[in-house]
Amino acid sequence: MAIREIRLRDDEILRKTSKTVKNFDDKLHILLDDMYETMKSKDGVGLAAPQVGILKRAVVIDISDANKKRKKNIPDVGKIELINPEITEESGEQTDDEGCLSFPDLFGKVTRPYKVTVKAQDRDGKWFKLTGEGLLARAICHEVDHLDGHVFTEKVTEYTNR
Ligand code: NI
Repeated sequence: MAIREIRLRDDEILRKTSKTVKNFDDKLHILLDDMYETMKSKDGVGLAAPQVGILKRAVVIDISDANKKRKKNIPDVGKIELINPEITEESGEQTDDEGCLSFPDLFGKVTRPYKVTVKAQDRDGKWFKLTGEGLLARAICHEVDHLDGHVFTEKVTEYTNR
């Protein structure tokens, strides 16, 4: 595994639409492993492939450390990999601080659905559905946005300091 360089702020690649993943091969698995290691090295809760310069619809999420820090008693689902994700259902609303590894030191209030269901493929191409609430729903929405070239700063209503 290797830590990859994270694309930052005005990097054009962050505004591009990522392509559907068609090959569930070693190259994809290495990308996913590297993305996870890169995300963990920066204490992130999610990372999308375009953030490491690869325009493929692949995302890694792990909210377990963040939940421990927030002392929230939410089941620990660990590492989540979403390939070709599509949000199929969303409900409710939450407004909270959000950040992004491509915008270090920038935090702001973003309103997201409280609960979402996402349909995605795993690293071997098998389709599954996942429903998340709270921070997990927020992370899913944030990362899927990246795949469509959208960054969270487009949705910030108020910047906050941390
Ligand atoms: Ni992000």
